[in-house]
Amino acid sequence: MNWIVCRVNRTRGAISGWLLRAPRSRAILAAVRLKERLAFWRQSQHQFESTGAIQPSSRFLARAMTEPLRLERGADPVRVVEMGPGTGAVTRVIATALRSHDHLDCVEINPEFARYLRELIDRETAFDGARERIDVHVGDAREIRLAGHADFVICSVPLNNLPVEAASAILASGVELLGGHGWFTYFEYVGLPRLRKVTAPTTERDRLDGVRAAKAAFAAGRARSRIVWRNLPPARAVHVLVD
Ligand SMILES: C[S@@+](CC[C@H](N)C(=O)[O-])C[C@H]1O[C@@H](n2cnc3c(N)ncnc32)[C@H](O)[C@@H]1O
Repeated sequence: MNWIVCRVNRTRGAISGWLLRAPRSRAILAAVRLKERLAFWRQSQHQFESTGAIQPSSRFLARAMTEPLRLERGADPVRVVEMGPGTGAVTRVIATALRSHDHLDCVEINPEFARYLRELIDRETAFDGARERIDVHVGDAREIRLAGHADFVICSVPLNNLPVEAASAILASGVELLGGHGWFTYFEYVGLPRLRKVTAPTTERDRLDGVRAAKAAFAAGRARSRIVWRNLPPARAVHVLVD
């Protein structure tokens, strides 16, 4: 009888402990996401051209961006390069997909974002077990060179905001980092370039057409893509098999 009472009390204790903890952890998570949004928004006000958005990608887009990493790797350890991690929305999904010998290099041009990301990696549980295998580099994704080659490049750099030559240089840098073989993933907001073209002056329209042509040439015959509606704005994740 004592044993039964003891079990019931322990079970009750465990349930009430969980009930107390669950809302608190949800509140903490909401606070972390809010902080992330604010940090992102602040940078977008100062550096809109390079930030290219006013809020971080959704977890649905982040998951779509990591599809080749999760589905196309073999048993050997892989190396991932993330271009433009910002406040880490995609980074945390990459981190949870990393296995014990995989490695991630994040290349971020904005030092404020890089600082924020380093702190996030240090403290957030999503990075437990992976943080020792993640390096954050402050620099331009067009110029970064790493020892050895990557297997996956996951790029959130806003190609549609860049001059045509800069967008082409990002794609070329990805191919170089992959050593000519691997998956290059990027995203683009659905419909936005077309909308921008309606109001833009001719030079801006030419630039947008140029970037679109560069991406189309890069992806031709070797890409698959998926629209993610649960992102603001909806976005298309494009996966290009470089070979
Ligand atoms: C649209 S935000 C994406 C941030 C984050 N990956 C996400 O999905 O929420 C673009 C990011 O690319 C970075 N960026 C822009 N140009 C870059 C470049 N040439 N090299 C490296 N990072 C760049 C920006 O600072 C910003 O963090």
